[in-house]
Amino acid sequence: MKRVLIIGSGGIGRRHLKGYGLTGRAELAIVEPDAGRRAEAAQLFGISEAYPNISDAPLSSFDLAIICAPANHHVALMTRCAEAGVAFMVEKPLSVTMDGVDAALDLVARHGVVARVGYVRRVAEEVIALRQQILDGKIGTLRLAYLNSSQEFPKYRPDFQRTYYARPEMGGGAILDAASHLFDMLIWLMGRPTDVSCMFDRLVLEGTDTEDTCLVNIRFESGAMANVTINQFQKPNIAAFEFIGTKGNLLLGHSTLQFADDDSGEWKEKRNYMDGLVPVEAHQARFRLQADAMLHAIEGKPCWLATLDEARDNLRIALAAKQSWLEKRIIAL
Ligand SMILES: NC(=O)c1ccc[n+]([C@@H]2O[C@H](COP(=O)([O-])OP(=O)(O)OC[C@H]3O[C@@H](n4cnc5c(N)ncnc54)[C@H](O)[C@@H]3O)[C@@H](O)[C@H]2O)c1
Repeated sequence: MKRVLIIGSGGIGRRHLKGYGLTGRAELAIVEPDAGRRAEAAQLFGISEAYPNISDAPLSSFDLAIICAPANHHVALMTRCAEAGVAFMVEKPLSVTMDGVDAALDLVARHGVVARVGYVRRVAEEVIALRQQILDGKIGTLRLAYLNSSQEFPKYRPDFQRTYYARPEMGGGAILDAASHLFDMLIWLMGRPTDVSCMFDRLVLEGTDTEDTCLVNIRFESGAMANVTINQFQKPNIAAFEFIGTKGNLLLGHSTLQFADDDSGEWKEKRNYMDGLVPVEAHQARFRLQADAMLHAIEGKPCWLATLDEARDNLRIALAAKQSWLEKRIIAL
C-alpha cells in the first residue's frame, strides 16, 4: 500500500479520492482548508487522516501527493512536495502565470522527484487508439488538426460562477480551464508548439470575469498546424477532433473514432470506445486508470501521463493565446 495525500477535496479531489480508493493500492489522507468540505470528504471516503493545511501534514511520510487545489496554488504546493522529496501529480493547468514555474520545475529536477500532470484524456482508450493509429502511419504524415469542444458549460457545472472558473487569476475561463486539455492532446500528438494566435471573449455567460469562447491557432516545430475552437454556451455538446494527414483523416467525435482516405463522403472503421458504458461512469473510471498509471510511475515503471515540461509548454500556449488577442499579434513561443 502507498500513502497518498489528496491536496484539495473539491470537485476533482473527490474524483481522485474515488479513483485511488478503487485501485486498492492506496491509503488515503486529505488536506482541505474548508472545514465543512474536509469533514464531508472524510466521511464520504472513510478517511481518518485529514489536515486543514499542508503545513499540518507529515508530508515526507507520504509516497505520493495529488495536488487538486485551484491552479493559482499549484506552484507553491509543487514546491512543498519537491522540498519534502514527495512524488506528486498536479492537476491541470500547471499554473496561471509563468511566475515561479521554472524555479519549481528546477527544484523538482534537483530533488529527483517523480512528477506528472493530470491531463486525464491521456488514459482514455479512444485517445490512446487515435495516437496509436497516427504513430502507425495510418493517415501518413500528420499536418493539420481541427479541434472543436463546445457545450453548455453551466449545465455541467451549475456552480460555475462560484468556482475558480469565474476568475482568470485562479485559472478559470475557456482557455486555461477547457482548451488546456486540448492543448495537451495536441502536444502529445503533434509535439512542441512554436507560434500561437487567438481571439477570445465572453460572448454569452453571465457572472464571470472569464472568456467563454476562444479561437486559437497553433503552429508546431514540425510545421504542422492546429485550430482549437471552444464555446461554452451552445446547446449541442460537440467534441469533434479531426486529424488530417497526407494519406487520410482520423475523426474523434466524443468517444467514436473513424477514418477516411477517399472523397466518397463515407467514414470507415467507426468504433465507439464507450459503447454500452454510462458516460459519467466511464469518465470516473479514467481517474482509476490515471491513479494506476501514477502508482506505476512512482514504482519506476513507464508512464505516459503529461510531464511537467509538456505542461509548461501547454501553459505557454494558453498565456500566448491571451497575449495574442490583447496585443493583436501572433506570438512566437
Ligand atoms: N482533470 C480534469 O478533468 C479537471 C476537472 C476539474 C478541475 N480540474 C482542475 O483541478 C483543480 C481544482 O478544481 P476543482 O474543480 O476541484 O475546484 P474546487 O473549487 O471544486 O476545489 C478546490 C478545493 O481546493 C481547496 N483548496 C484551496 N486552496 C488550497 C490549498 N492551499 N491547499 C489545499 N486545498 C486547497 C478548496 O477549499 C477546494 O475544496 C484546478 O486546477 C482545475 O483546473 C481538473
